[in-house]
Amino acid sequence: MNDNVDPTGAVAGWWATAVSRMEPGVIELRGHPVQELIGTTSLTSMIWLMLRGELPCPRRTRLLEAALVASVDHGPQAPSIAIARMAATCGIGLNNAVASAVNALGDSHGGAGEQCVCLLTEILEAEGAGIDLETAVEQVIATWPHYLPGYGHRFHPVDPRRDPLLSLVDEAVRDGVVAGDHLRAARAVEAALNRGRATPVPMNIDGATAVIYAELGFPAPLARGMFVISRSIGILAHAWEETQQGRRNKGPIPRSILPAHLT
Ligand SMILES: CC(C)(COP(=O)(O)OP(=O)(O)OC[C@H]1O[C@@H](n2cnc3c(N)ncnc32)[C@H](O)[C@@H]1OP(=O)(O)O)[C@@H](O)C(=O)NCCC(=O)NCCS
Repeated sequence: MNDNVDPTGAVAGWWATAVSRMEPGVIELRGHPVQELIGTTSLTSMIWLMLRGELPCPRRTRLLEAALVASVDHGPQAPSIAIARMAATCGIGLNNAVASAVNALGDSHGGAGEQCVCLLTEILEAEGAGIDLETAVEQVIATWPHYLPGYGHRFHPVDPRRDPLLSLVDEAVRDGVVAGDHLRAARAVEAALNRGRATPVPMNIDGATAVIYAELGFPAPLARGMFVISRSIGILAHAWEETQQGRRNKGPIPRSILPAHLT
């Protein structure tokens, strides 16, 4: 530090961070020189390192990567993707098209993983207080809003991403990589939701990935953060494809179809 410029260290302290260290000729990320990470560290491990401060073991990396791969895209029916494509035709550039789409990832679209982690944690706390899991689920969901985060899907009777993700968690539990408590809680919620129902309310992608993030020890808000990282890839691909098609000012429906008039 140059004592003449910042004699009390107040300015340097203002931006104090454990994430990275920069000096002329030095870039350290969580204490690792960037030149040692380049070529040795996968993007998924980098995400973990930056958020958690340590490099994950290969099995944990595999689980995190599976969750990130699973949420990348859900086609233009998904509001985030449709918004990316419409925004890309408005002359605002790729960065703004991506940002517009990311801003639609909320409690009922892509962002439900955050609340799902909270729900599952609350159930496990209730169980930890000495009641059986089924009763804990009943008691806790009675205090939550009707639409439980991480369950239900507009298109899929069973979300095709659910089983491969949960199988990987099963495997990781069997091998002692993760504890499996959030997985147990998530399955118990699904069973409770579907008891006596003719049409299923399946665990959805936000639910299955929330299980992975919680099992890996990510705090609830980072479940949403992870979804944002993952879906940004699909958002960028769609925004770019739409840009290349050259269409200008694309609306949500073809212009030959007019919205119904409310009376
Ligand atoms: C995703 C979602 C918006 C889809 O909603 P939808 O297709 O319009 O579903 P509907 O509102 O028509 O519900 C159909 C039935 O399933 C039930 N249901 C759907 N999702 C439910 C949930 N998460 N919790 C409890 N019940 C649910 C509804 O009560 C309804 O029951 P009924 O047939 O007895 O009336 C909705 O399931 C939801 O809000 N889920 C929670 C948020 C979430 O996880 N979002 C991420 C989506 S990938």
